[in-house]
Amino acid sequence: MSPSGGFSLVLKGLPGSMVGTHYHVGTVHGYTMRGHWRYLEHDWIAKPGTYIYEPAGEAHTLVITDDSPEPMITMFVVEGGLIYLDKPKEGSFAAYEDGFTLLELTRKYYREACLDARRLDLLVR
Ligand SMILES: [Fe+2]
Repeated sequence: MSPSGGFSLVLKGLPGSMVGTHYHVGTVHGYTMRGHWRYLEHDWIAKPGTYIYEPAGEAHTLVITDDSPEPMITMFVVEGGLIYLDKPKEGSFAAYEDGFTLLELTRKYYREACLDARRLDLLVR
């Protein structure tokens, strides 16, 4: 995680699932390891080995294609927060997420699952 709230993650999702429309305040790099996915706003389909670059400020809606032969697994390096929109076209602010909010969500999960949340701090760089 970076001081700007940037973070890296490995995102996994089942065919037919999606991430709501959002844009980033910084750039994003992604590398697809498994499955097929796309943005509703573009024609290309990412498959294993596909690298993508997202410029800051471009709104997009990630969908894992219904015919993906396996769950999608993609590594994303996100240089800042995400702004979620309440609808795909001309949407308004719906939610904010960054490395700090995700870390807090993870701490909450650890507490609910009776895991030692202090171990998370050892993972933060
Ligand atoms: Fe994105």
